[in-house]
Amino acid sequence: MSETSPERIAIIGGGSIGVAFAVVFARAGHRTIITDPDPQRRAAVPSELAARLTSLDAAGLLTEDPEAVLARATVTSTVAEAVDGATLVQECAPERLEIKQEVFRELGELTGPDTILASSSSAITASRTADGLECADRILVAHPGNPPYLLPVIELVPTADTRPEIVEAAHRIYAAAGMSPVTVAREVEGFIFNRLQGAVLREAYALVRDGVATVEDIDTVVRDGLGRRWSFMGPFETVDLNTRGGISSHAQKMGPAYERMGAERGQHDPWTPDLVAEVNHQRRALLPLDQWEDRVAWRDQRLIELAQTLTRTAPSISRKSEHDNDN
Ligand SMILES: NC(=O)c1ccc[n+]([C@@H]2O[C@H](COP(=O)([O-])OP(=O)(O)OC[C@H]3O[C@@H](n4cnc5c(N)ncnc54)[C@H](O)[C@@H]3O)[C@@H](O)[C@H]2O)c1
Repeated sequence: MSETSPERIAIIGGGSIGVAFAVVFARAGHRTIITDPDPQRRAAVPSELAARLTSLDAAGLLTEDPEAVLARATVTSTVAEAVDGATLVQECAPERLEIKQEVFRELGELTGPDTILASSSSAITASRTADGLECADRILVAHPGNPPYLLPVIELVPTADTRPEIVEAAHRIYAAAGMSPVTVAREVEGFIFNRLQGAVLREAYALVRDGVATVEDIDTVVRDGLGRRWSFMGPFETVDLNTRGGISSHAQKMGPAYERMGAERGQHDPWTPDLVAEVNHQRRALLPLDQWEDRVAWRDQRLIELAQTLTRTAPSISRKSEHDNDN
């Protein structure tokens, strides 16, 4: 399987995520076949695909005509036809265990031993879906953001039974399709995406409950503060660049305060010296300290470009920010 060769991709379930995945795969040059048991959905899929491709094209985000991409995506009423010759099957059926199990049982029977069976599930682990199935060694979760053609991250969550070559092949296909696959080492509820989102939401709810902030205040802090940086780097890189000396220096200065904030919420997950040493080791492998100043300048430039884009595309947001600054 070469990194760039066109494959056949089957999409099971043509709802929001199924249509969005069809954009990802057809845009990447793959022959993409979508199936859905609901005839109304099957009828709606082509126009929904066309609308999404037209918007991407208008924004200069397609490298070819929308019609050429659309021509690679077809709809069928049968799962058997959809998966015929497929390298990867992306299951996008409703988030119900009994539906997922039945879909994967059928997929196991209809596909060969090397076909990747990927579930888009947000919360149902592949272990539960694959329980008792012969094809368990080909099943993994491949959880996207919504919509995956605009949020490239995809969490790959194999089980202990998933064959490593299946995970590696899935990783290659998603990466070659312009996505950013992250392999989650262990099946944990919420994977990474929703655990991080959950941590922020838990604190946001508590701050509203305690009368510290309004809902609007919290969204402003994220939209006009944290979120601007997070649109191009993660929380580790953010604090690494915020403190001269990098993340170990940040942990030394701020660790105790964050530990107290956690304790206030009944959490005891201190950043122990060993843990900080490991995080620092990984950060320094990504960014040696002698490149720190250059990276800080890069961050500032990205913030300038983001401010330009936001001012150009959403003047009401920048006016709102100026108004906030007056108060
Ligand atoms: N919507 C999101 O934000 C989001 C984000 C990440 C992952 N997901 C996951 O993606 C999956 C699909 O979610 P969605 O938002 O597209 O749902 P949706 O309701 O929009 O689409 C589900 C589609 O599956 C079809 N369907 C029903 N029974 C089926 C069956 N037996 N076999 C095949 N298809 C069947 C329905 O007709 C419908 O078109 C879920 O597992 C969900 O958790 C959703």
